[in-house]
Amino acid sequence: EFSWKLADHPKLPKGKQVAVVVLDGWGEASPNEYNCIHIADTPTMDSLKNGATNQWRLVKAHGKAVGLPTDDDMGNSEVGHNALGAGRIYAQGAQLVDLALESGKIYEGEGFKYIQECFETGTLHLIGLLSDGGVHSRLDQLQSLLKGVSERGVKRVRVHILTDGRDVLDGSSVGFVETLENDLAKLREKGIDARIASGGGRMYVTMDRYENDWDVVKRGWDAQVLGKAPHTFKSAIEAVKKLRAEPKANDQYLPPFVIIDENEKPVGPIIDGDAVVTLNFRADRMVMIAKALEYENFDKFDRVRYPKIHYAGMLQYDGELKLPSHYLVSPPEIERTSGEYLVKNGIRTFACSETVKFGHVTFFWNGNRSGYFNPDMEEYVEIPSDSGITFNVKPKMKALEIAEKARDAILSRKFDQVRVNLPNGDMVGHTGDIEATIVACKAADEAVKMILDAIDQVGGIYVVTADHGNAEDMVKRDKSGKPLLDKNGNIQILTSHTLQPVPIAIGGPGLLPGVSYRNDLPNAGLANVAATVMNLHGFEAPSDYEPTLIEVVDN
Ligand code: 3PG
Ligand code: CO
Repeated sequence: EFSWKLADHPKLPKGKQVAVVVLDGWGEASPNEYNCIHIADTPTMDSLKNGATNQWRLVKAHGKAVGLPTDDDMGNSEVGHNALGAGRIYAQGAQLVDLALESGKIYEGEGFKYIQECFETGTLHLIGLLSDGGVHSRLDQLQSLLKGVSERGVKRVRVHILTDGRDVLDGSSVGFVETLENDLAKLREKGIDARIASGGGRMYVTMDRYENDWDVVKRGWDAQVLGKAPHTFKSAIEAVKKLRAEPKANDQYLPPFVIIDENEKPVGPIIDGDAVVTLNFRADRMVMIAKALEYENFDKFDRVRYPKIHYAGMLQYDGELKLPSHYLVSPPEIERTSGEYLVKNGIRTFACSETVKFGHVTFFWNGNRSGYFNPDMEEYVEIPSDSGITFNVKPKMKALEIAEKARDAILSRKFDQVRVNLPNGDMVGHTGDIEATIVACKAADEAVKMILDAIDQVGGIYVVTADHGNAEDMVKRDKSGKPLLDKNGNIQILTSHTLQPVPIAIGGPGLLPGVSYRNDLPNAGLANVAATVMNLHGFEAPSDYEPTLIEVVDN
């Protein structure tokens, strides 16, 4: 008989306030000139690593340890926060799509049948991130899907590409477009009218998240649905090459463009009777476009025209909202998360970040679920992010404001758990600006200090960890670890995450002196953190959770 009731921990007391701090994009790597965490002034994190009065270790944050297909897959915030919150390792979107494509099951599902209804008389539009980053989407999955639909009656295909440069090297967009163009040419040889119809950079077109800036989605809508953009080209390769040649241009921020035919007409606006698939498996940056495509009533921007289409997501992006209602692959069913257990066992919870990471410590943490489990027990605070800038311009972001909210929540003694995400290392690391990332790391460190000071005052416990690496390595390396140079002899800046492990530090005046890390879990990963945090609240974790990192030795 299932019960939400958690067993009491045999040794650890209840009633201690616990601060859980997630440093986004903060991995552990050897000290060198491209390790911004090492270069930055980070006395707080240094002292935790030094471990004089606390426990410190590394945990895995990439690959199979967080449910990704292979150990060559870098970590990311979705799978990282899912693992931290759920305490178990789930096969994640990337892998579920792989399996569905390999087995062909994707073509037997309701979602595919729904879009297939439009193949005879309409166009199939595929919208998504074009790269092999594996965080939101993968080129080989698009290729496989193109092959699949071509064998299943599709007559006309239009691809609306979003260039990456964030999960992969900047400049790699050109190669990905060339690969896709080759594939589409082969489909045309088979008699299928297949073309790229529009495009734009992921951070400027379509892929906003947590409603930070609806203009981003509108720019995509105008190009993809209405066939309107400030730039038009005869081919996508020409588009990407020319737009990249503009001063300061990069893949992440390419302006929207539309492909036009000989008569200057857009080759693929979305119209009544068409089918649309959003290719990304990851939810956060698809929810907004999914709402625009799916909701009859919609007031976030003027859609001008709302086509009657059959729309399916690669996955369902929000299980609570059932958004979208049609999808090709079922998402991982993450249930019984630590957040839900703890609230049901009386733990009053406060969670906070700024907009760009707010859903990470709430939605992803709670197993891709929006909203509260119990509004009387929880408070989630979102601090508005700066919008319309790249974060290297203001690398301190809202770290101080987040820390102040956390401090006040701790000192109010109204919460048992105070959980934050500090975005700096990640969001600034993604810009590839090394100077700014150093400033970002210092700001995050100062925020940690403020939270630890508050925990000190209330006699609480802190857990400081991270979701994946980013700021600790800003250069692309060869297999032996040597920085790679481009053809002009400059180092290749790494804007993406890394494969590095992340630290976890536990301490504070409320921690029993006998608590230490177990030594039988050398391969532990982020999924081991949830049971650990449950212990610190005085509970045993459910038996199917990954084991706790700590033990209590009597002395
Ligand atoms: C993004 O969406 O910003 C990147 O692709 C991944 O970053 P995140 O996993 O840290 O959010
Ligand atoms: Co990131």
